[in-house]
Amino acid sequence: MNKVLYIASEAFPLIKTGGLADVAGSLPVALLKQSQDVRLLLPAYPEVLKNISRFKTVATHSYFNLPFSIIETRLPGSKVIVWLVDCPAVFDRPGGPYTDQHGEAWADNALRFAILCHAAVDIALDKLKLNWKADIVHCNDWQTGLIPALLSRHEKRPATVFTIHNLAYQGNFDYQTFVDLHLPDELWHMHGLEFYNQLSFIKGGLVYADKINAVSPNYAKEILLPEFGYGQNGLLKSRQQDLSGIVNGIDEKHWNPGTDDLIIEKFNRRTLSKKVNNKTALQEQLSLPDNASIAMVGMVGRLVQQKGLDIILQSLKQLVQLELQIIILGTGDLHYEIQLSEWAAKYPDKIKVVIGYSEQLAHRIEAASDIYLMPSTFEPCGLNQLYSLRYGTLPIVTAVGGLADTITDTNKESIANKTANGFMMTEPTTEKLVLTMTRALAFFKDSNTWHQLQDNAMRFDSSWTASADGYIQLYKQALAKINKADS
Ligand code: ADP
Ligand code: GLC
Repeated sequence: MNKVLYIASEAFPLIKTGGLADVAGSLPVALLKQSQDVRLLLPAYPEVLKNISRFKTVATHSYFNLPFSIIETRLPGSKVIVWLVDCPAVFDRPGGPYTDQHGEAWADNALRFAILCHAAVDIALDKLKLNWKADIVHCNDWQTGLIPALLSRHEKRPATVFTIHNLAYQGNFDYQTFVDLHLPDELWHMHGLEFYNQLSFIKGGLVYADKINAVSPNYAKEILLPEFGYGQNGLLKSRQQDLSGIVNGIDEKHWNPGTDDLIIEKFNRRTLSKKVNNKTALQEQLSLPDNASIAMVGMVGRLVQQKGLDIILQSLKQLVQLELQIIILGTGDLHYEIQLSEWAAKYPDKIKVVIGYSEQLAHRIEAASDIYLMPSTFEPCGLNQLYSLRYGTLPIVTAVGGLADTITDTNKESIANKTANGFMMTEPTTEKLVLTMTRALAFFKDSNTWHQLQDNAMRFDSSWTASADGYIQLYKQALAKINKADS
């Protein structure tokens, strides 16, 4: 049994902006089930504090003259112990984990996440006297990148694993920030934290972690290429021996159409005919024409370039000519929000756009839709296509990252061997999106084949069982690596 300190900047249901929260809220639960003594470390944002009921303070300390305490609680609905870094000077403010109410990055983000990293290091080494010492420190994305770098300077240290959820976000700051954070001088070089004269948080993970993984095998390969590597492809290549891909699982309790209290009508593979009631209910809720037989196309997500918004916007003119209704829920870049809302105003019977964040509506869209739209330009893993499969909603995806690993295009062969579970665009272009949508709609009209596709989708295994085991193997390898270095 390993003692695993799992650090993330968000975890569902305490705080969530995207898929990282889904993973950080479900992988630790799966690891605990496989007998890992896992502790989750998070910043105590106001929303997190609002979402916990029983808790106690287990340590107090300060970094940069800013006092903080460590609060102990449990991840709601599980037995996983959560430690929260309650440093009011940097975490107690309205707004999101990374940005203020206007979507601007917090000016002191480097300091905020450096505090999280220092706390992780001191907890892992039991310097905060929590009476627990980590064997494995598992870091996620740039916010936790300094941890492997700082730990590398300790002779007796736990093994470190760094998971890349999205290489596009790197946590780069100017040199002065490096000085202000009192980071050790010997970390400032191109084979350390320096990245084109900037301090790069993510390099702390990419350079110093014993093992690195991406959230799908395909993304682990893509990031070695300049198009997907965001300047880190060379470094990653040099670490190829320690780099692997492990596909994300989903929280099957929370995303289960058979038990989902957020949707109007529950259904499963055997009662699939009830799914349509979710469609008609959503049409009523969103004032779309009542039509049980029209194809509903759903999308939920961050409205950013990554999610294929340019391709979608350029396709809408042709998509509205087809027999379908489109529902999009999300927040993100203002120009996308405005353009999508303009399209919705122009075609009120065809397009509904809800700008905002709603867990309930996200579930209702998954349950109601026939087709899910995910033409991402890159996608490290993607969870929405996995939720769609679970809800018998067939995804249209680009052949990138985790989408290529989890979706099998519908064709003669994949229909025959019952692996077809969606539609793959061969290129991320407007033309291919329209073509693929037209192809999907033709299958939709053939209800026998469509039911078979839905059945294939709903049988797809997205559980954490195999992937949690993959992480435990990775922990083993990381431990073997440092033990070898010791002897
Ligand atoms: P990413 O992490 O890149 O945003 P994923 O597909 O991995 O993409 O995960 C996104 C998660 O965030 C999903 O659980 C999705 O339902 C959720 N999500 C994103 N935007 C919204 C929103 N506006 N309302 C509700 N849930 C959202
Ligand atoms: C990132 C990626 C997404 C992935 C999620 C969880 O936000 O963009 O593809 O599913 O992390 O790993």
